[in-house]
Amino acid sequence: MEFIRDYADWFYLIGAVLFILTLRGLSGPKTAIQGNRYGMIAMAIAVLTTFFVAENPVIWMIIGAMILGGLVGIARARTVPMTQMPETVALMHSLVGLAAVLIAVAAILHNNKLLEIGADALTANNIDFHAMSKVHLFELFVGCFVGAITFTASVFAYGKLAAKKWAKTISGAWVKPVQAIIFIAMLACGFYFFSTGNMTAFWAMTALALIFGWVWIAPVGGGDMPVVVSLLNSFSGWAAAGIGFTLENNMLIVAGSLVGSSGAILSYIMCKAMNRSIINVLFGGAMGGAAAPVAGAGEQVQRNYRSGSADDAGFLMSNADSVVIVPGYGMAQGRAQNAVKELANLLKEEGVKVRFAIHPVAGRMPGHMNVLLAEADVPYEDILEMDEINSDFPATDVVLVIGANDVVNPAAKDDPSSPIYGMPILEAHKARTIMVIKRSMATGYAGLDNDLFYNDKTMMIFGDAKKVVEDMTKAINGTGH
Ligand code: TAP
Repeated sequence: MEFIRDYADWFYLIGAVLFILTLRGLSGPKTAIQGNRYGMIAMAIAVLTTFFVAENPVIWMIIGAMILGGLVGIARARTVPMTQMPETVALMHSLVGLAAVLIAVAAILHNNKLLEIGADALTANNIDFHAMSKVHLFELFVGCFVGAITFTASVFAYGKLAAKKWAKTISGAWVKPVQAIIFIAMLACGFYFFSTGNMTAFWAMTALALIFGWVWIAPVGGGDMPVVVSLLNSFSGWAAAGIGFTLENNMLIVAGSLVGSSGAILSYIMCKAMNRSIINVLFGGAMGGAAAPVAGAGEQVQRNYRSGSADDAGFLMSNADSVVIVPGYGMAQGRAQNAVKELANLLKEEGVKVRFAIHPVAGRMPGHMNVLLAEADVPYEDILEMDEINSDFPATDVVLVIGANDVVNPAAKDDPSSPIYGMPILEAHKARTIMVIKRSMATGYAGLDNDLFYNDKTMMIFGDAKKVVEDMTKAINGTGH
């Protein structure tokens, strides 16, 4: 124990390096498992070191909380379906935000922490701020309000992604002025606390930050929620880093900063993939006013499309030279990844060149498709990112779109009036033949009709992704060899 205390900074340094290696590992599918291992070791070092460094830790409370948290975490990790991962992540961020608020409150109320700096003056309503370092007050002020905003905003994001009734999108001319008033009032209370140590101002700031988190995120459309979740991830990191300064814990400062900066970078990448700016996502309202899933489908004008059977599609693909599979949210929803892998293997056995094309925002979370395909053991070299594959579509015989919609919508390229105009897409429409598996002609997440489905070269194959893909495999097995 003494040893750990004496060398705590070294342990934290090792943990910090391992966290950096974690992020590096997680940047590619081949190294992701190793990256995860580094992360687990780093977290174990961080927790154990902090545990032994703490003076007079309330051991049973800490161990009890760790066991309880561990059990809840394991149970959730084992049962959560991949499609519910985004809301689970949002819920986890809310806990980081709440922890930041509670630590700030505890640090203020706990005489030993702040008042050890020289004062014995935590009066009923005022901290003797002269006795405290201004820097400490500032850290608490920032850590607390960022944490409070992260908490309620993440709870809302969770509710929205899980389609809870209480997480209603709000809209109207009143929203922005109300947001501005609450934000300014929150900052005013924070600065008053910062300059006078007044506890009423501190509580008011915290309450206003909690309200602000909700009214800030509530107008954002469902389609933009993943960007918000990633941004809140970043916020939770900065809140943790702020609290790391308060607790004088270097590990927390480093880990918080890594989470903060990686979340910010991811938000930027996602915005770029959707051709949006972060300001537009956060303050521009719902995307095209149509982010509610499958909204407005009833108003569509009847248009002609061609439909075919899984047998027809299987026959066509087994006779093609090259097939590109474009997976989307429907593959995740239908849990079709293993069936898709089998189909791809069979086609390869038939001498067809098969590759997978991944759009950066296909599905509902960053890397969604990569994770599913990795789970099904699809070789990494068969999986190509949008920029790598787009130029190959014109020379591709068959594109098989499995439950993807917005990410192959040509309106993003050629309809300036479309809300997704400018978003980079997988240019499936350029292939010689396009096959689309989905259950109906319903719209995708952005709530927009898709010209690709009405293209002369397109064949719609209606049905659940897994069933249709299995039928295709059966059909090829029947006709092949
Ligand atoms: P979507 O545009 O949402 O389309 C998915 C399609 O899958 C739907 O049209 C649906 O049509 C079909 N589908 C659903 N369940 C199915 C099943 N069991 N079997 C067969 N088909 C099924 O998906 P996408 O092309 O992957 O695009 C993703 C969208 O989500 C983009 O708009 C993106 O901006 C947004 N978004 C992305 C993220 C990230 S980070 N990935 C996060 C949030 C939002 P039917 O109902 O007719 O079957």
